[in-house]
Amino acid sequence: MIDQVAAARDAALARVAVVSSMAELRAIDAELLGKKGPFAAFKTRLGALPTVEEKKAAGQAVNEATHAVGAAIDARRAELAAAERVVQLEAERLDLTEVQARPSRGHAHIITQAWERLEDVFIGLGFQIAEGPEVETDFYNFEALNMPPSHPARGEWDTLFVESDPPGSVLLRTHTSPVQIRVMQTLPPPIYMVMPGRVFRRDTPDATHMPVFHQIEGLVIDRDITLADLAGTIEAFTKAFFGGEFTSRLRPSYFPFTEPSAEFDIRTPSGQWLELGGCGMVHPNVLRAGGLDPEEWSGFAFGFGIDRMAKERHAVSDLREMFTNDIRFLEQF
Ligand code: DAH
Repeated sequence: MIDQVAAARDAALARVAVVSSMAELRAIDAELLGKKGPFAAFKTRLGALPTVEEKKAAGQAVNEATHAVGAAIDARRAELAAAERVVQLEAERLDLTEVQARPSRGHAHIITQAWERLEDVFIGLGFQIAEGPEVETDFYNFEALNMPPSHPARGEWDTLFVESDPPGSVLLRTHTSPVQIRVMQTLPPPIYMVMPGRVFRRDTPDATHMPVFHQIEGLVIDRDITLADLAGTIEAFTKAFFGGEFTSRLRPSYFPFTEPSAEFDIRTPSGQWLELGGCGMVHPNVLRAGGLDPEEWSGFAFGFGIDRMAKERHAVSDLREMFTNDIRFLEQF
């Protein structure tokens, strides 16, 4: 009987190995291990064996065979379940790539574009680029620019102060002019420098004002620099930046840090005059604050708003549009 059990076990294992579906496996499970299966039949025949030893040995063989077939069925069930799961997952997979938009390449912000073009044009005219801190001291923002503590011109800059000791000594720079002093203190002349950057004023946002905006400062220090050099540089810049049909003019004005001072305007091809910024010959007190001897060195400076240039260039009617970051607006430029 032991040989018969072994043969039945091998036949059963061979069948389990080739089962290819759960339904088939369930049927075979019932057929092989059920009450009417071969191993149940062996069990009922045990009682007829002549000796106790034979009953014991044959009973053990039947149990082992039953276990082996049961284990093979369990293993096959796990394999089939895993395979079914793979098929199910593949069928239910969501193809998200179908609805994903093609990534689009962005570009620099309208202000950054103007900033970089200005740098390019000034580099073409022989200038270098410098930057200074946005949080400044009263000394650099006012005092070194010929505005002592009581100077009335300080009131023209709606200053945002930073908490400091003594109060009022640290502020958000109201213009890029303080970088002039830092450059003079750092580099020996001759200096041909432009200094772009972010500036801050206590302004309520409207179509032409923002509390945070951008300026570009220019500083030239050399021997025997005259107002003619300033006018020529402004004119060369106007033509290089706006085009050959544009011209420029200087109008007398006042700034504490220049003497004489002027506003400079550009004339569009249609004959319209636009005010761009301020300029003038660097005041002797400013040269001294920068550590230079006014008897030996002279120079000119200018400063104007970058945002306003971008606004004019692209005919944007409201400055605030540039900073609400609506992609539909920004992607036009
Ligand atoms: N800092 C001035 C402002 O913000 C602009 C300016 C005027 C800069 C004259 C200059 C200058 O360098 O010479 O209003």
